[in-house]
Amino acid sequence: MAILKVARLGHPVIRTPAQAVPKESIASPPAQRIIDDMIETMREYDGVGLAAPQVHLSKQIAVIEVQDNRRYPGEGPIPLTVLVNPKILNASRKQLEDWEGCLSVHEFRGRVPRAESLEVEAYNRKGEKIRFHAQGFFARVIQHECDHLAGKVFLDRMPTLSTLTHLHEFLRYWQT
Ligand code: NI
Repeated sequence: MAILKVARLGHPVIRTPAQAVPKESIASPPAQRIIDDMIETMREYDGVGLAAPQVHLSKQIAVIEVQDNRRYPGEGPIPLTVLVNPKILNASRKQLEDWEGCLSVHEFRGRVPRAESLEVEAYNRKGEKIRFHAQGFFARVIQHECDHLAGKVFLDRMPTLSTLTHLHEFLRYWQT
C-alpha cells in the first residue's frame, strides 16, 4: 500500500471527466491496489472521501469513510464504501446547504446545497453491482465525489462565493 500524492485545483486531471472502469478489470490486482492506495491516502489526510482524479488517476473510482474525522467532527460514522462507476439516481428535490471542503481545494470551506437524499448504483470493489439509499452527510459526500468523477469541484456548486472561507477562519468564526 502507498500514500498517493493529492492533485490540487489547477492540475488538469481535476477538471477531466474520469473514464469508466471495465467491470471485468475491477477485481484485478492493479485495480485492487489503486483502491487500497486510495483508502490509505484518504485516511492519511483525514478525508471523508477521495476520488481517483484527486490522486492523478482519471478513473471512475471513489472511496468514502467517516470515523470520528478530525476535519469533520460530529459527522458520521459512515462505513468504508468503495464506488466504481457510480451513478446517482432519484436525487431528492429537497436540498440542504452545509459546509464542504476538499483535499484538492486545500484549506478552504464553502457552503454548498446538495440533495438531501439519493440512491446510488455502482460496482463495489469485488465488481458486484450495488444499489443503496443515502441521506444527509453520506449523500453529500457521494455527490461531492461523483462531481470529482465528472471534473467538477464543490466551488462549482456554490450559489455564491461569498461564503468561501479559509479553514483557519472557518474554525474561528463559523464552526458550530
Ligand atoms: Ni473533494
